Amino acid sequence: MSNHMSLDGKVAIVTGTAPGGIGETYAHALADAGAAVVCADINDGGAKSIAHAIEENGGDALSVAVDISDEASVAAMVAAATERFGGIDILVNNAALMAQIVMTPAMQYERAAWDRAFAVNVTGAWQCAKAVAPSMQARGGGRIVNQASAGAFPAESVYGITKIAVVGLTTTLARELGPAGITVNCIAPGIVASEAGKSLTPEGSPYLAMLEARAATRAVGQPSELCGALLLFCSDAGSWITGQVLNVDGGFVMRP
Ligand SMILES: NC(=O)c1ccc[n+]([C@@H]2O[C@H](COP(=O)([O-])OP(=O)(O)OC[C@H]3O[C@@H](n4cnc5c(N)ncnc54)[C@H](O)[C@@H]3O)[C@@H](O)[C@H]2O)c1
Repeated sequence: MSNHMSLDGKVAIVTGTAPGGIGETYAHALADAGAAVVCADINDGGAKSIAHAIEENGGDALSVAVDISDEASVAAMVAAATERFGGIDILVNNAALMAQIVMTPAMQYERAAWDRAFAVNVTGAWQCAKAVAPSMQARGGGRIVNQASAGAFPAESVYGITKIAVVGLTTTLARELGPAGITVNCIAPGIVASEAGKSLTPEGSPYLAMLEARAATRAVGQPSELCGALLLFCSDAGSWITGQVLNVDGGFVMRP
């Protein structure tokens, strides 16, 4: 039986790929499955180090400095990926503001911070999808995976509001891009022990205690525990799945 989760010959862009983040784990998982990976981050040095590590492991990778909130920067990212690898099959919309914004009550936001949160977390993901769709369509289809959060169900922070908007982006684009053979799905992780996730959940903190009280299994997951969902959505194994949100959170969020 052939490997339905192989990504041999595919080209993937992962936004938000810097050391210690979920994007680092995603980039390695896609490379291990056979994809050439474009590591894209506003942190140029961070993206470079991940691409370098993939190449050291025998994979194919390119690093690109990008600000996903900036249309020209996103266009340049797609142009660089296309020039190097010929086109794009997979987009993982992972970059976002999280630890920087999640603890501030909505009523204490300044307008500029509110606009920045939406510009990165929502507009950024939309802009990346819009920029890669023509290449995917020209190649006969593609996969877009958005990153929401358990913090969207229900949204109880500005961060959560941006992430429920990412869910809306997922269903909207799934409907619009389905005829072009492009699936659009969404992973909604619970708290994950990336460096950013760990900074939010120090041992003994009330936030960690709240998460532990609600978890069905374990409050904190590892980045690698998201990769089954990622590979399902990106590979032939998930060819008929679109417009879905998969909560990967140890049962933190449960829906009827
Ligand atoms: N860690 C968690 O517990 C958790 C839980 C649920 C969802 N998530 C989501 O997973 C994703 C990754 O989270 P993480 O824990 O790795 O956090 P992180 O802060 O390490 O990762 C975010 C990455 O996005 C990059 N980035 C920020 N703004 C950018 C911009 N304008 N353009 C390009 N890159 C930009 C950052 O440099 C960083 O590398 C985010 O979408 C986050 O909301 C994380």
